[in-house]
Amino acid sequence: MTFVDKLQALAQTANRAIKQAKTLDELQELETRFLGRKGELTSLLRGLAEVDEKERPALGSLANEVKVKIESQIVQARVGLSQGEMQEQLHAEAEDVTEPGTRPPEGHLHLVTQAMREITEIFSRVGFVRTRYPEVDWDWYAFEALNMPKDHPARDEWETFFIDAPPSAKMGKVVLTPHTSNAQVREMEQKKFPIRIINMAKCYRRQMDITHVPMFHQFEGLYVDKNVGITHLRGIFDYFVKQFFGPTRQTRLRPFHFRFTEPSFEIDVSCGICDGTTKLPNGEKCRTCKSGWLELGGSGMVHPNVLKAAGLDPEEYSGFAFGWGVERSYMMKEGMQLDDIRTLYKNDLRFLQQF
Ligand code: DAH
Repeated sequence: MTFVDKLQALAQTANRAIKQAKTLDELQELETRFLGRKGELTSLLRGLAEVDEKERPALGSLANEVKVKIESQIVQARVGLSQGEMQEQLHAEAEDVTEPGTRPPEGHLHLVTQAMREITEIFSRVGFVRTRYPEVDWDWYAFEALNMPKDHPARDEWETFFIDAPPSAKMGKVVLTPHTSNAQVREMEQKKFPIRIINMAKCYRRQMDITHVPMFHQFEGLYVDKNVGITHLRGIFDYFVKQFFGPTRQTRLRPFHFRFTEPSFEIDVSCGICDGTTKLPNGEKCRTCKSGWLELGGSGMVHPNVLKAAGLDPEEYSGFAFGWGVERSYMMKEGMQLDDIRTLYKNDLRFLQQF
């Protein structure tokens, strides 16, 4: 084989191999194989030494042409392949921005929080401001200032958690507030009249069964000024019931006894299921209420001793107070009978997502 034949054979092999290369890496290998320092063309050129001296320049320039040709074929192939690879990558990573997105799961407020917001809003329309008082408080505010001296049996109703903290000589022990009534004396002490507040807070009692949870919520209303009477209590109560439960619901005050109010009442709302008739449309007896009425909670005119404990003169000031349960009110509103009230706080989404 002459030098020229070898050169042509090399050019052909290179050309074919370059055309068949599928990746940039393969091309790189071909470049080294044909044009590298130890490559096929270089070793061929070494053979020029044996060729007749006169023919050398012509053969040298022919070899150079072959080199330039191979180089340009590689460059072209490289452009082609890199475009292809880029297309492939673009295609693989492409995002369709017009595709509808996936919606992240969206939560909502707990039904007790929803109820608290609604109650706050209803009272704010008639001038009541939501206040916040401690949920860990002195015995004084939770009991004693509310006309319940130490060791008074009335205290037994509030199954209180005591905090293991040093007692104060004047204020007594520290308790988890068993009701929201601790707000009464705390608010009156500030002597900013008229007092029209809603204290909505957590309450704690040592009880746990299908109708009790150790932590629940109450809202405490307090209206104190000069000449506040029972008619005001009735008016506010009626207003709240019609707003919260619906315009057809009736209300009644039933005489009762609390240490911190005189006179005291239990407040009832007509049953929304049987419309206060005790009978369902199909003639059966209503199982939600006993007598056509549902008990909402306690209320009454603030006891003179409570006014005095806050430093107010009972001859000058009077007021009413009420304390109702948030969970209970909500369930009465929805006509909802939970088999177990603890369901409210189990964080089971299958239950909570219904509200
Ligand atoms: N604090 C009472 C309780 O937890 C409820 C209550 C009754 C609050 C009468 C009042 C009231 O403000 O006047 O059972």
